[in-house]
Amino acid sequence: RIFANSKEASGAVAKEIADLIRKKQKEGKSCVLGLATGSSPKTVYAQLIRMHKEEGLSFKNVISFNLDEYYPMEPDSIHSYHRFMKEQLFDHVDIPKENYYLPSGTLPAESIPDFCTSYENKINALGGLDFQLLGIGGNGHVGFNEPGALINSRTRLITLDHSTRAAAAMEFGGLHKVPRKAITMGITPILNARRIVLLAWGERKAGVIRQSVEGPVTEHVPASYLQAHPNVSFVVDESAASEL
Ligand code: GLP
Repeated sequence: RIFANSKEASGAVAKEIADLIRKKQKEGKSCVLGLATGSSPKTVYAQLIRMHKEEGLSFKNVISFNLDEYYPMEPDSIHSYHRFMKEQLFDHVDIPKENYYLPSGTLPAESIPDFCTSYENKINALGGLDFQLLGIGGNGHVGFNEPGALINSRTRLITLDHSTRAAAAMEFGGLHKVPRKAITMGITPILNARRIVLLAWGERKAGVIRQSVEGPVTEHVPASYLQAHPNVSFVVDESAASEL
């Protein structure tokens, strides 16, 4: 779906999420969301906050699971995805504290595999993700499933790609300060979501959007795995669509 700009696109995505939350509320059910970080979803979160304030959209029935977190990473660090989510969404809406989950960046290494299994188990026990929001890295990663990630990959500790660390270097104040590892939901739990929306804005994403949508399904471009999903939308602005 190609929109004139990211603002219009984000409005449409926020509306879809809000409609889903309200529908689930009417049914007396939880709404299980998979959430993403990065700059792309910020405008969607801003719209959701606006709908909470202006339209009374409630997040009391929302349970959310974030895709990834750097490892190691303290939750209150300015670089942590925990902090990002609080600042960009959770602190501004009425989601109960016990309803949102992110991979932990502070676990001892030996307990990471068990943590990852229980993260997926929690999602499955709730009946799976109703909706998964995604961004896309310049190298085609989704979450932190870097090129080479397999279609049957599970939630796990990964080694970040050099290009991913280089893209984050400015924000961290130097490449050497960017963590080398991260915990990410795998491709399998992402593809298990009943609905997936991937966001991409700007010309710098045009090449990887073309590869993901029109190229072969390949581990070299993990976002291309989404082609196999029955209910996925790539929501892009005109610049990100310019090579389609
Ligand atoms: C990071 C995140 C991804 C995100 C990507 C793109 O690597 N782990 O989930 O999609 O950045 O970020 P942006 O939206 O800022 O381009």
